[in-house]
Amino acid sequence: MLYEIKELLKRPELYQETSIPFWDDEYISKQMFKAHLDPEFDGASRKMAFIEKSVKWIAGTVPPKDYPLLLDLGCGPGIYGELFARAGYQVTGVDFSSRSIDYAKKSAAEKKLNIDYFYQNYLSLELNRKFDFAVMIYCDYGALSTEKRKIVLKQVYDHLKPGGKFLFDAFSLNEFNAFQEKQIWEVQEQNGFWREEGYVELKRCCKYPQHVTLEQYIIISKAEASSYYLWNTFYNKETLLKEVEECGFKTYGIYGDVSGTTWNMESPTIAVILEK
Ligand SMILES: C[S@@+](CC[C@H](N)C(=O)[O-])C[C@H]1O[C@@H](n2cnc3c(N)ncnc32)[C@H](O)[C@@H]1O
Repeated sequence: MLYEIKELLKRPELYQETSIPFWDDEYISKQMFKAHLDPEFDGASRKMAFIEKSVKWIAGTVPPKDYPLLLDLGCGPGIYGELFARAGYQVTGVDFSSRSIDYAKKSAAEKKLNIDYFYQNYLSLELNRKFDFAVMIYCDYGALSTEKRKIVLKQVYDHLKPGGKFLFDAFSLNEFNAFQEKQIWEVQEQNGFWREEGYVELKRCCKYPQHVTLEQYIIISKAEASSYYLWNTFYNKETLLKEVEECGFKTYGIYGDVSGTTWNMESPTIAVILEK
């Protein structure tokens, strides 16, 4: 066991992936799901008041009458999706958490909202249709490796009609500068975030070159020990625009967040609307 933990504690190569499920793990996805549905918690989804403000701004900026077909990548349990549908978009949501997609389908049916949800990986979409507008909300973009960011941009580009728009957000360099490197541990009795049974959590937060951070969690229970890597790439206006323009997009608008706040150097996030 000690040898195994020493192996798990090794600092991984840039963007090395966890070999075990995270978003679609049976137990972890249950905790994530609770976080999505808590309207007062900025966890897996932002707080409800922000989401409502965000949808209002989005529908005013990329209006459903001109951009009716909307693709929501990483839609989670459909919190945005339902508000988008009520705002007048014809919504398709994609997520690879089966728990979230199952809930989203059930919730839309109960509310008589006509939304298409698909349990799919947005890195390999199979939708056979083109959209007017795509969104990827809550800084998922920066959690991907350089290679996967290119893949997702290509996927979106290929799924948009000419003139179609793409809105997404990422954490800013301001947040990178505020990120503190540290190593901490915690003992969790039962029903913690990572496991139902008790465990010890070893957490390492460290910075990598080119404005990347890693949050590494080693979870040690009686039965096993596992390591999870959560990566993030942080951007300023120049680095983000360079990356998306290399993939063929034109810049339509730059904002401080997905509710249309004016961008400035202190903004914790940066949001862009791109045009195909
Ligand atoms: C931070 S949550 C944001 C959820 C939603 N956009 C919101 O703001 O409420 C990220 C979501 O993306 C999903 N996700 C992550 N990687 C994905 C992938 N490769 N394909 C599809 N969904 C993915 C997760 O399951 C999760 O529901």
